[in-house]
Amino acid sequence: MHQSDALLHRFEEAVAPVIDRCTDLTFVRGEGVHLYDADGRKYLDFASGIATMAVGHCHPRVVEAVTEQSRTLMHAAAHIGVMEPYVRLLEKLRSLAPGALRFGKGLLVNGGAEAVEAAVKMARYTTGRPIVIAFHHGFHGRPMGALALTASNSKYRRRLGGLLGGVYHAVYPAPRLEIGRTPEERGRAALSLLEDAFRTVLPPEDVAAVVVEPILGEGGCMVPPPGFLEGLWALARRFGFLVIADEVQTGIGRTGRWFAVEHWGLEPDMLVLGKAVGGGMPLSAVIARREIADAWDPGAHGSTFGGNPVACRAGLATLEVIEAEGLMERAVEVGAEIRRAFEAARTRIPSVGEVRGLGLMLGLDVLDPNTGLPASSQIMEILKAASRAGVVLTKCGEATLRIGPPLIITREQAASGVEMLLGVLQGTGVAARA
Ligand SMILES: Cc1ncc(COP(=O)(O)O)c(C=O)c1O
Repeated sequence: MHQSDALLHRFEEAVAPVIDRCTDLTFVRGEGVHLYDADGRKYLDFASGIATMAVGHCHPRVVEAVTEQSRTLMHAAAHIGVMEPYVRLLEKLRSLAPGALRFGKGLLVNGGAEAVEAAVKMARYTTGRPIVIAFHHGFHGRPMGALALTASNSKYRRRLGGLLGGVYHAVYPAPRLEIGRTPEERGRAALSLLEDAFRTVLPPEDVAAVVVEPILGEGGCMVPPPGFLEGLWALARRFGFLVIADEVQTGIGRTGRWFAVEHWGLEPDMLVLGKAVGGGMPLSAVIARREIADAWDPGAHGSTFGGNPVACRAGLATLEVIEAEGLMERAVEVGAEIRRAFEAARTRIPSVGEVRGLGLMLGLDVLDPNTGLPASSQIMEILKAASRAGVVLTKCGEATLRIGPPLIITREQAASGVEMLLGVLQGTGVAARA
C-alpha cells in the first residue's frame, strides 16, 4: 500500500466526515508553489491553503521569523501583558490601510470568522443599534455568529435552528438573478431593493453595520457591478451605519492591492482580515476607525490566543516579502495571463465558461455543454481529476474553479497549471458530451 493510501485510510477512520475534502491527496511538505504527498509526488498549488499562503510554502523569511520567535516567546496572552510582535503587526497593518483607518486601532484574533464576529460586536456595541446587514451569496465563516451572516449555501445552515438574531440578508446583484439585463442594472436594482427594505421592514436607524466582501469569494468569485459598492457606501453614510469590509480572502495583496476596497477608492469603517495575514498561522485582525475602536470598553472582548507572537511574526514576514518581492504587481500580471488563457480556451472547450476576478483571485465557471448550465454535479470529480493531473485547487459558487495560487507564482508555472486544467476539462465527460 502506498503511504498516501495508508494515511488516507487513517483519516477516514479518525476524522469526522463533516471535514470534507476536494481531493484525495495527502500533503506532507510544501515548498514555494508546490505541495508534495506522502509518496513524494509533486503538485502545483492553485489553492494556497484557501487563499492563505500568499508568499508560498515555507518561504525562508517566514520560516526564519517563526523559528526565531518560537525560541524566544511562544505565548503569554495579550490580556496579561504587551507583546511587541502584536503591536508591530497592527502598526504595520494600519500603515497600509486606506483612509482614516491609517490612524485607526485594531485587535487580533485567530481566524476569519472570529474576526467577523468581533467586528459585528464592535459595531453593535459602539452604535447601540441592533441590526447587521449581510448579502445573499456572502461568506463570513461557520461558527454560529458568523454563520448567521453567511448566505453562500443553505447547506451550511441545515438542521441548526436559530442562529444569531438581528441579521438582515439583502439581495446581491448576482449575474444569474433576473433583476436587470446588464450588471449596472442589477447593481442598481439590488440597491433599490435595499432602500425598499428600509421603507418597509428594516428601520435604517436600527442598522449598526453592513458586512460586505468587496469581491465575493466562496459565493462564486463575483466582482460587484460598477456603482454597486459606491451606492452601498452612500446608503451607509446617509443612514449613519458602518461599513465592515470583510477582506479575509481579498486582503493582503491577493487582488493586486493590499485591500480590494482600494480598487474602488472606498474607505470602510472597519477592515476584517484573516487567511494570509498570518502567513499560514491561525491569525486574524480587525482594524477600525479610531473613534469606533476607542468606544469599545476595555474587557468587552478578548481571546486567549489572539495575536500569538509566533503567528504575528509569520504575518509580519509575509507582509515584508510581499513588499520586497513586488508580489502585488506580479498578482496583476500573472492573473491577467491566466485570464487570457482561459478566455482563449472558451471557443474550443465548451465546458469553459466565464472567468472572473481581480489579480490572483480568479474564478472559472465550468459548464455542462449539454445545457450551458453550471456543471454542479461534476465539479467535485473535476477537482479530483485535476489533482491527479498535478494541480490542486478548490471550488466556489455552484461550479466555479477557484484559481488562487501563491502570489509568488511565475508566468511559466501559471501557464503549466492552466494547461493541466484545460487538459482535464477537455478530457472529462463534461467536455466530451458536447
Ligand atoms: C470572506 C471570508 N470571511 C470569513 C471567512 C472565515 O474564515 P475562517 O475560515 O478563517 O474562519 C472566510 C473563509 O473562507 C472568508 O472567505
